Amino acid sequence: MADEKQHATLIAKGELNRRAFFAKIGLGSLGIAAVGTAGFAYQFLSPNVLYEPSPIVNLGKPEDFAMDTVTMNPDAAIYLVHSAEGYFAMSAVCTHLGCLTAWSQELGIIKCPCHGSEFARTGVKIEGPAPKPLPWLRTWVSEEGDLMVDRSTDIHPLQFLRI
Ligand code: FES
Repeated sequence: MADEKQHATLIAKGELNRRAFFAKIGLGSLGIAAVGTAGFAYQFLSPNVLYEPSPIVNLGKPEDFAMDTVTMNPDAAIYLVHSAEGYFAMSAVCTHLGCLTAWSQELGIIKCPCHGSEFARTGVKIEGPAPKPLPWLRTWVSEEGDLMVDRSTDIHPLQFLRI
């Protein structure tokens, strides 16, 4: 009887309340679980999108590209060629397995370092395993007078841009 009275006194003082203690632990666990679930739900419902750079490339002023030159833009993986017929842009990505090709000034050809494909400066395949020529890309002059290239739009070859 004395023990029960002593126990009741301790509970009243808030020093020994096992039920309340476990209730607090239970609520805390539920709170942590709710926050974790909300985090996963947010991640699941958010769009899983990769943002790629724009396919439109500004190459600058046409006069910066001297006559009879092949200029590679490695960031955009394209060539800008200025020939007597006009300007044109081509992809610099090999049509075999996608390696980045390189212009050889000495040889006057575009070479792929991976498996040896070679292309004329018009993109026509000369030799090697590449199944297709390098594609020409849509090219135009912006209102500001800059050369623009759309890497996502192939055009038929020999459509020179005359300025
Ligand atoms: S990737 Fe260019 S020849 Fe194979």
